Amino acid sequence: LATLGVVLVAAGRGERLGASVPKAFVELRGRTLVEFGIAVVTSLPHRGHLVVVVPEDRAAQTLDLVDRILPAETGWDVSVVPGGRTRNESVRFGVDALPGAIDTVLVHDAARPFASAELFERVIAEVRASGDAVVPAQPVIDTIKRVAPGGLVTETVDRGDLVAVQTPQGFPRELLAAAQAAPDDAEHAPPTDDAELVQRAGGRVRVVAGELRAHKLTGPADLVLLEHVLAAKLL
Ligand code: C5P
Repeated sequence: LATLGVVLVAAGRGERLGASVPKAFVELRGRTLVEFGIAVVTSLPHRGHLVVVVPEDRAAQTLDLVDRILPAETGWDVSVVPGGRTRNESVRFGVDALPGAIDTVLVHDAARPFASAELFERVIAEVRASGDAVVPAQPVIDTIKRVAPGGLVTETVDRGDLVAVQTPQGFPRELLAAAQAAPDDAEHAPPTDDAELVQRAGGRVRVVAGELRAHKLTGPADLVLLEHVLAAKLL
């Protein structure tokens, strides 16, 4: 039976947030961000293996959390592994911890605590239907300009074919493994998402509709926004 692998990356320090704990361990209404992520994944009606990637000194706390919230009737096994220095390294450690019999891998940021089960299902279905990598995408709302180092605008970019991408991002396992095994590309800046690894290796990446509630928590203002989303049930 085909099973899913999900890597939930939660090992960042979250310095831009300025909190005293790593970002994924910040609480919204008494629940940590990583808890929201574990809860939504283990509620999905699939068989799968979830790897939660956390700072080394948070592993014990995360295992306790998993014990506490894992639904009694679940098709999910959960393991916890320590993260790396960069997000890419954390993803790699997570993927390496997945067991053998998995066809589809999803990578999700704990910093997007309210990504919905429907969004996960949309990504999973599209990966399995297309055989391509799949990312949730939203239209770009603001006008986008290119700016030179001195602060002068050099160009307004046509936003008609631009999108902003979110997680969970989904991959046929072999496609992600091949992309991760490709040699580092020294010419370009390090990839800022997982799908870019696939693009660089020549693989296809397609989009499905993203959602506002999958907004990423980066700075203090995002915390306020997500608290309001939760309070107002604007989900
Ligand atoms: O810092 P940023 O918001 O880009 O991080 C995105 C996600 O990657 C977060 O969920 C964060 O916990 C995770 N991350 C990680 N290991 C790192 C850096 C970031 O798991 N070394």
